[in-house]
Amino acid sequence: MSLHVPLPHRSATPVGAATKAVILVGGPSRGTRFRPLSLDLPKPLFDVAGHPIIWHCLAAVARVKQIQEVYIIGYYDESVFRDFIKDSAREFPGINLRYLREYEALGTAGGLYHFRDAILKGRPERLFVLNADVCCSFPLEEMLKLFMERDAEAVILGTRVSNEAASNFGCIVSDSHTRRVLHYVEKPESHISNLINCGVYLFSTDAIFPSIRSAIKRRTDRPARLVSYPSSDNLDNFTMPRAVADDDDEEDKKEVIRLEQDILGDMADSKQFFVYETKDFWRQIKTAGSAVPANALYLQKAWQSGSEELAPASANIVPPVFIHPTADVHPTAKLGPNVSIGPRVVVGAGARVKESIVLEDSEIKHDACVLYSIIGWGSRVGAWARVEGSPTPAGSHSTSIIKNGVKVQSISILGKDCGVGDEVRVQNCVCLPYKELKRDVTNEVIM
Ligand code: GTP
Repeated sequence: MSLHVPLPHRSATPVGAATKAVILVGGPSRGTRFRPLSLDLPKPLFDVAGHPIIWHCLAAVARVKQIQEVYIIGYYDESVFRDFIKDSAREFPGINLRYLREYEALGTAGGLYHFRDAILKGRPERLFVLNADVCCSFPLEEMLKLFMERDAEAVILGTRVSNEAASNFGCIVSDSHTRRVLHYVEKPESHISNLINCGVYLFSTDAIFPSIRSAIKRRTDRPARLVSYPSSDNLDNFTMPRAVADDDDEEDKKEVIRLEQDILGDMADSKQFFVYETKDFWRQIKTAGSAVPANALYLQKAWQSGSEELAPASANIVPPVFIHPTADVHPTAKLGPNVSIGPRVVVGAGARVKESIVLEDSEIKHDACVLYSIIGWGSRVGAWARVEGSPTPAGSHSTSIIKNGVKVQSISILGKDCGVGDEVRVQNCVCLPYKELKRDVTNEVIM
């Protein structure tokens, strides 16, 4: 008697493989606005609310039950994400996370296209793409729902900002009834809409890769701009033309293809492209100072969801506050709201810390005050010292403010291994690594 076991249908999509996700992390040449903190750590691994920036993206993706495969795409060295990937395998056992390294910066769409074979393995129907440097509640399930309802080819996450801020972002013109994207322009010169691109997308794999291919083809077909330089010997003589070597042509040569500039505008013209507008929080993490509002937003979200990682409220803890289990905080120190204290940090008696990130191995001595600041790894803030920034207006997407007519950093930042002397006051300053501050400083970059 033979037992007939039916073979699985070869073309069937494996269960759970219908949706994959990519997190775009860029590489060492990006994140320059995150200096001085990115001098010592790649921006995606910088801790906000007790976890690396990229962890927040991964945690959001891991909540979508259809997703099992996630790729981090960037051009950092392979070793950069090794530990993160190892730790994530324990924390998110349902997710297979891999790093795919571009040989050089290929752009936000170029990297996707370069790794299309890996991404398309298992025939996923849909692909989430997340910019690693955004801080939001990542309403991925809602985007997926809209995608299914509208039989979409692409869904973009959008949010409203002030009319003045809008032109710093990609702007979306949409049909308010159908939510269809009618027009997309990256950083337009004049106002077209205050609904902006949040850097989170869901694409049909059948739409995104052909769209990138068309953009590459358009790029290749475009004749190089030619210019002839007259010879200094004989100005009337014809000389061999050569391509103009300006920035654009550098990018052409390097085949940089960007979703924002090269793909989304066309998708609005030719594809079933919709926008899901989030009313929840959204911020970009570009400048080092923007880590402070991002820290506050993620801590508030964790507090609202009853996260057990956060310190319980008490007379000296104003929630939300994250304290790493290895940190040593004196019971008379007052922390919060919106404070993250990293591993092995020591906070002395009577210290006050508010709206700040204190990174690992640093020390805040007794009676010191740290407000709207980032204290870099291994830095020391002396007794009775003050390190302070200024609050940014609610809803602002900038981390600089105008003070006495001068544009200054709203957040004070100490780089790695800095020292602030006892009783010294540091106000709205950015301090590069390994500096000792022995006198009061205001509105300065200390190099
Ligand atoms: P602006 O927003 O124009 O100021 O540029 P930006 O470099 O700050 O951000 P961009 O919008 O170009 O990048 C969005 C996300 O994609 C960020 O998470 C970047 O790290 C990432 N990214 C940018 N360029 C590349 C690239 O060439 N390859 C990969 N893999 N990621 C990239």
